[in-house]
Amino acid sequence: MGMIFDETYRPFFERAQAEGVYDRQFGDVEVQLTAVATRTGTRAEKYRADAGDRIHPFTSHAGDDSVDQMLADGVDFACVATPDDRHFEAAKKILSTGVHLLVEKPSVLSLSQLDELQTLAQENNVLAKIVYHKLLDPDHKKLRTLVHDDVLSHVNSGYCTLLEPKSISGGQFAEWITGRNPGTYVAVHYIKLIDYSFGGRLKTIAATGQRGLVGPADGPTWDSCQMRMIYEYDSGREAAFDIHTSWVTPDNFPGYVEQEVQFRFDNGLWNGHSRKRGVEVTVEDKTPISIKNSMNNHYNGTFLEPWGERSQRGYGIEVIERFVRELAYVEFAGPPSERESRLTKTRNLAYNDVAADRQVVAAVQALEAILASQHQGRPDCVVRVNDPAGGLVLFQPGNAEPDVLYAPPV
Ligand SMILES: NC(=O)c1ccc[n+]([C@@H]2O[C@H](COP(=O)([O-])OP(=O)(O)OC[C@H]3O[C@@H](n4cnc5c(N)ncnc54)[C@H](O)[C@@H]3O)[C@@H](O)[C@H]2O)c1
Repeated sequence: MGMIFDETYRPFFERAQAEGVYDRQFGDVEVQLTAVATRTGTRAEKYRADAGDRIHPFTSHAGDDSVDQMLADGVDFACVATPDDRHFEAAKKILSTGVHLLVEKPSVLSLSQLDELQTLAQENNVLAKIVYHKLLDPDHKKLRTLVHDDVLSHVNSGYCTLLEPKSISGGQFAEWITGRNPGTYVAVHYIKLIDYSFGGRLKTIAATGQRGLVGPADGPTWDSCQMRMIYEYDSGREAAFDIHTSWVTPDNFPGYVEQEVQFRFDNGLWNGHSRKRGVEVTVEDKTPISIKNSMNNHYNGTFLEPWGERSQRGYGIEVIERFVRELAYVEFAGPPSERESRLTKTRNLAYNDVAADRQVVAAVQALEAILASQHQGRPDCVVRVNDPAGGLVLFQPGNAEPDVLYAPPV
């Protein structure tokens, strides 16, 4: 029940509590927050007090076995929004119990973990989906549409950057940040965007990073990192993508996060900038700290609607609702005898299914391994995908023996 719960799950569950979720295919479905699992229970109690009757009365479970207790309550689906290195254990328990899963990005940190989740979802006939809200950003939808329709043809190269403020690494995440890096957590948005929008086969990952602000200069915790991915397409041609991330941008930066992309095609150029979508505001004594000069009102905004209602909406919330609609389709959009075919159809949605996350997890696992090697005094490693030596193989300059991170094909 951290930041992302508050920004996206909370508004979704509150709206669903008031309005339900309706579609002609599956009817009027009640979606109630019935149970939560947290470490201490403090945030759950605070939320219960704040929300009052905006939310369904829920049971709060705390402590080491809170996920088991929550599952024993009999939930239909469960969402995992813990720090990125704590997704796997909870996700495994959820799927093993036969409960549908929605997990925050990055889904998991290694391909062997992904294999386990995929097998468990299959064995238990449930969905295992990942929250990739940037694929629902209207700008990224347009990019993908132009690529899909071959208006923009063959991407050759590109860069993406996402810079978080210091308050993230120094405040919100301070408790679990040791040994972590900003790339796994946010570059993954762009890894997925590139992987999903352009297709192709991931071939090579290189990366480096800087330390010294969040932790010691020779420690395991990273201030910023940069990665490069090489893809190959059916035409035999390649493309290279650089992704730069940081969580040490000054807090008085005029936007919440700096997000920029540029992709170069054979016949065109796509430039996207999340802070330059049109709004710039100044409020004495408020900007740029409590209100930012440039806002992203597309991701998640609170509004007074023209008809007088207060709302919170945006693609960050839409993506959660979309999962619930997919799940309602599986369970309720026809006779139980046809559930299997509805399940298969929903699993085939590659934008959010664990089965379609292999190259993304490969890139994340490679990034983690390259940074760990750099920390251990072995910089400049490169990871190759589906190499003769294995599915994911780390090569270190000066060392003839590669390190096989994952043996089966990716
Ligand atoms: N979709 C997005 O754009 C987006 C944005 C931010 C974060 N996220 C993802 O959401 C996840 C959480 O990020 P956040 O920003 O909310 O972080 P956060 O630090 O604000 O919240 C994490 C919460 O998990 C709790 N927690 C830690 N270990 C736990 C455990 N074992 N069991 C139960 N609760 C536990 C913490 O106490 C905290 O309340 C991360 O995976 C992150 O990558 C996604």
